[in-house]
Amino acid sequence: MKPGILQFILPILFIVAIACAHPGAAQTAAQAWLRYRPTGKPLGVPTRVSTLGQSVLEQTAAIELRRGLLSLSGGAPLEDGPNMILLGTVQEMHTRDSKSTVPSLEPEEFFISALRGDLVREIDIVGGSDRAILYGAFAFLRNLAQGNDMSKAKLRERPAMPVRWVDEWDNADGSIERGYAGHSIFFDAGHVRDDLAPVAEYARLLASIGINGCNLNNVNGSSPFLTSEMLQGVARIAEAMRPYGVRIGLSVDIASPQKIGGLVTYDPVDPAVKAWWATKVSEIYDLIPDFAGFTVKADSEGQPGPASFGRTPADAANTLAAALAPHGGVVLYRAFVYNHHADWRDPKADRARAAYDIFHPLDGKFAPNVIIQTKEGPIDFQVREPVSPLFGGLSHTSQAMEVQITQEYTGQQRHLVYLAPMWKQVLDFDMRVGGATTPVQRIVAGTAFHRPLGGMVGVSGIGQQAWLGSPLALANLYAFGRLAWNPDLKPEQIADEWTRQTISNDPAVVRTVEEMLMQSWPAYESYTGPLGLQTLTDITGSHYGPNIESSENNGWGQWHRADHEGVGMDRTVSSGTGYVSQYSPDVARIYESAATTPDDLLLFFHHVPYTFELHDGKTVIQYIYDSHYQGAAQAAQFVDDWESLKGRIDPELYADMLGRLQYQAGHAIVWRDAVVQYFLKLSGIPDERGRAGHYPNRLEAEDARLTGYKVIDVTPWEDASGGKAAMCPVASGCTADWTWKGATGSFRLAVQYFDLQGGDARFTFSLNGHALIGWTANATLPSKFPHGDNSTRFAVLTVNLKPGDVLSIAGLPDGADPAALDYIELLPATP
Ligand code: GCU
Repeated sequence: MKPGILQFILPILFIVAIACAHPGAAQTAAQAWLRYRPTGKPLGVPTRVSTLGQSVLEQTAAIELRRGLLSLSGGAPLEDGPNMILLGTVQEMHTRDSKSTVPSLEPEEFFISALRGDLVREIDIVGGSDRAILYGAFAFLRNLAQGNDMSKAKLRERPAMPVRWVDEWDNADGSIERGYAGHSIFFDAGHVRDDLAPVAEYARLLASIGINGCNLNNVNGSSPFLTSEMLQGVARIAEAMRPYGVRIGLSVDIASPQKIGGLVTYDPVDPAVKAWWATKVSEIYDLIPDFAGFTVKADSEGQPGPASFGRTPADAANTLAAALAPHGGVVLYRAFVYNHHADWRDPKADRARAAYDIFHPLDGKFAPNVIIQTKEGPIDFQVREPVSPLFGGLSHTSQAMEVQITQEYTGQQRHLVYLAPMWKQVLDFDMRVGGATTPVQRIVAGTAFHRPLGGMVGVSGIGQQAWLGSPLALANLYAFGRLAWNPDLKPEQIADEWTRQTISNDPAVVRTVEEMLMQSWPAYESYTGPLGLQTLTDITGSHYGPNIESSENNGWGQWHRADHEGVGMDRTVSSGTGYVSQYSPDVARIYESAATTPDDLLLFFHHVPYTFELHDGKTVIQYIYDSHYQGAAQAAQFVDDWESLKGRIDPELYADMLGRLQYQAGHAIVWRDAVVQYFLKLSGIPDERGRAGHYPNRLEAEDARLTGYKVIDVTPWEDASGGKAAMCPVASGCTADWTWKGATGSFRLAVQYFDLQGGDARFTFSLNGHALIGWTANATLPSKFPHGDNSTRFAVLTVNLKPGDVLSIAGLPDGADPAALDYIELLPATP
């Protein structure tokens, strides 16, 4: 072993920072939770599957059961005797046996019951419709896969809400708006893909968690989807999903009558426009008889809308609704309507107010088949927001809650963030409408205000790379479906179910993964935007890395109003924007006063000095410091937690997730340092624990002896240590050398570099001229400029150092990636 090296020896290892999914492998539901691994114990149920009816969905249920049972029993042949699992609708059960005691069921309700006669054993899976049989079959398999005893099953379930849709934001060219898992499974180069096998697999996944609708295309730029040619292709997608009971919908551009119909106007009350929509909708239903309906984004972020003609969202929604009604279709009209050119100097301007201000006055004016689809918070999928007040403001209108499965503002699947706890908080939030208990889940289910429709919509971001890119991110898709089916489920329980089906039934694994999932949202919040600051990310760009000022001084309205004295947006009635008044009096009373506002939303509702004391007496500024250090420590802990699973789980999954969690731990440090340094500089108030702004173990690139490397200012400054980086303009490479002046001892080395788009730069670390380790900067991170989006930490080496040792980083640029370097850090290694 060479002196000074504890863990790594020559030859140089080039390490891939983030593992990728296998290119070219078929994309199947078994890569998500429909794995059906043998549980290692007898199934205890008959494995012959029989159906009473011939409908496609009933046959799908039988196929799924046979496939699942075969796999769960480790490939043992299915039985052939008199014992069976029998599938049928209530009607079919009564036809089979007029004395059948099967209860009457709602269309999407199922009933599973085990009957044990003297000679035969039978498990009946009965549905209120053939679709419900499929849901029953998947529920049965879900239980078996978790090792539950189903031999004496009695299970009756129905979904809490009628609309349970995923929204894809796919574009016709195959790109996906805010998608982080590669190319579309639906579209490519302006057309529907030839190979729709992954679409059918996706529909299996959706059906297994009770999702009954899939809106295929981006809410922006949707007009190409209504051309006759595209609709033919869309009909093929509908065909691929139909056997699983997933109906498809489309986002539509309200200007379509003009853009693709050749009319001179798209004014929704114009008779020619109404007639155009009616004809277009008939064309759709000729091709897709079970078409589910339209999703609409209008008058929002540059999309055309009824406001151009002085019309309201109700005018537009009702025109579409009238066209769809004869065919049984619905309109999901999005309440995400706001002015993105707001005046930031106006203390009364407030984007959060927009949805309620626009839609509340229209309550009762929407046709019965219109559903107002509202994001769960009033801004835009931030790491934490209060519940949108609009849920309480539409008692004569059907409503759906839109959440984001794709992690746009919550780490883009590179960070582990299990969102079920966030959604559950919203679903359980009591809006106190009319002073009575009114949880959001009952509003969107339609029961609170006796509405015929309502539900949950999840923006999914599914792509070709392992569905959602990161294996653990799939827990969010799973949880979305489970909560839309049953909002009373606990996030822990859903995490448990998902882990057992996806990873292992080993109790140690289940416990560890469940804990990691449950801690992940609070951790992410802690190191990004705590106290209701929202995700302090680059809101005019990638929405990924830290960029605190990007929220300010522009019309997008995601302001946090941080200045030298204090921070937060005053939304009170007494002195602020008045947003608080949009809640019922019981809720408004809590938010109106900083003393009663929960700490985690304080800065969403109030502008306070940095010295303002939270409920436990800690100041706001100290909380900002502490939470960022604690959150980054938690991210590091996830790596240790995951490492404890080595040998207990699939090695490929282990390695893939380990790389991701190591990356996250490094990026959490980038976040921590950026936010902490920013508020330290702005407030001028030191961290009472002395951490913020003090990095004694760092050797900065700008302080090194540089050969070839050039020092640059990083924008925003807080995204780099000392605000500066070194980038290499020399194709043959550059070096940075430091002479060690610290103590003799063992140190963990971390190298902070920028992994830019447009090339795979390479780095090598050497000690006293001996190359010890190298790696390639080949992750796919946002941005072509060095900053917090792509600042990456490489930390796998422990070295022995003594004064006078020379530490060097050699950077070799590649393409547009200039091997940019921020610093190296040497933290004393714990023995
Ligand atoms: C976010 C997102 C956009 C999206 C919009 C929407 O702002 O960044 O890409 O179009 O939400 O929900 O319509």
